[in-house]
Amino acid sequence: MTAPHPLAGFWKIDPESLYLNHGSFGPSPEPVSAAREAWSRRLEQQPMRFYCREMEAELDNATAVVAAFLKTQPDRMVLIDNATVAMNIVASSLPLTDGDEVLLTDHEYGAVKNIWQAACRKANARMTTAVLPFPPATAGTVQAIEAAITPRTRLIVASHVTSATACILPIAEICRMARRHRIPVCVDGPHALAMLDINLNELGCDYYCASGHKWLCGPFGSGFLWAHPRRLAELKTPIISWGGSIAGRPASWKDSLQWLGTRDPAPLLALADAVRFFTPERLREYRSYSHSLLVTARQQLLKIPGIGPFCTPEESDFVSMVAVELPQSPGWKPGYHGHPDSLQTTLREKIGAEVLTGSWNGHRFLRLSAHLYNTAEQLQACVAAVQDILAHEASLQTSAHSPKDS
Ligand SMILES: Cc1ncc(COP(=O)(O)O)c(C=O)c1O
Repeated sequence: MTAPHPLAGFWKIDPESLYLNHGSFGPSPEPVSAAREAWSRRLEQQPMRFYCREMEAELDNATAVVAAFLKTQPDRMVLIDNATVAMNIVASSLPLTDGDEVLLTDHEYGAVKNIWQAACRKANARMTTAVLPFPPATAGTVQAIEAAITPRTRLIVASHVTSATACILPIAEICRMARRHRIPVCVDGPHALAMLDINLNELGCDYYCASGHKWLCGPFGSGFLWAHPRRLAELKTPIISWGGSIAGRPASWKDSLQWLGTRDPAPLLALADAVRFFTPERLREYRSYSHSLLVTARQQLLKIPGIGPFCTPEESDFVSMVAVELPQSPGWKPGYHGHPDSLQTTLREKIGAEVLTGSWNGHRFLRLSAHLYNTAEQLQACVAAVQDILAHEASLQTSAHSPKDS
């Protein structure tokens, strides 16, 4: 048995669980959970002092840490609960009118599609879709998005790292192309934090929405919205509250986004501790360790009959999350991608493994994640169980098609 990674002890994962779905919900290492708890305690000790006199300055401090990590200025970024809230703010702020179009790729996250569908419906606008090549190679991806632009396109929405298909989209190239057409780009970026080096000032987008609870291992309920200075004045919250600074500071574009009613800001404040946890050495270590676990697991998966490489044909196409295409079992129906299919349920029941399975554009997929707390044995156990379950599915298929005994 190989020893766990030396940093694995920072996570307190339920030993009964084989947790291979950091990509959906990524737990925090102990120093980050401890920091979140300490912030909550400080709030509970004297809420008037904390909310009215300290919180805004502390949020500024935390924002400065997160902004430095992403090579941007803190006055372009507001800490917010998650990518969903951030995307809703962008959707509330974009002035859409009758006949306008918002262009998404066909890899976008279901909730993000819902946000834009709702915003378009309200304005009598249309959500349009760029169908990317399969697999989405850089040049073809940019061309497919460009080909879907019309004179009515008001915004392009694209994931930095896609959810179901787990591929890294060429965001800088997409932004460069969009700038030629004078169309703003909103990046849906929760998976990219820590997984990729990000320079928000140089990426070329207008908005960047992110959650901290994925690869950066921030607390659940932490994220941010970043916007280019040319967009800041337009930002409007869909959640109306007081709107001003509770500490009585000079007005800022952040005021209406920072006080969304009374809530515990501890997750936002401890996002800075997640950034501090990931020293440059740890960041490198997380990326290379999880990648090597997934490279081996994927090689083993690809030897199983019927499994294919899906949207990431090369090992360099992914970092700590990879999806493979599965054979379609007899009763399998394409549906909402987050809805577990029988493989996901059976893996959990048989070996306690948590993975993501589902359908995307009619393909059946399995997505595995790995982080510093996972081991080669865990991935191997998951691959072996996948092999058994698929062999069982195939045997049911064969018996369903074989002639009946006379
Ligand atoms: C690509 C993508 N966008 C947006 C989200 C929404 O993130 P959250 O639920 O943290 O708001 C997710 C969550 O899995 C995602 O994968």
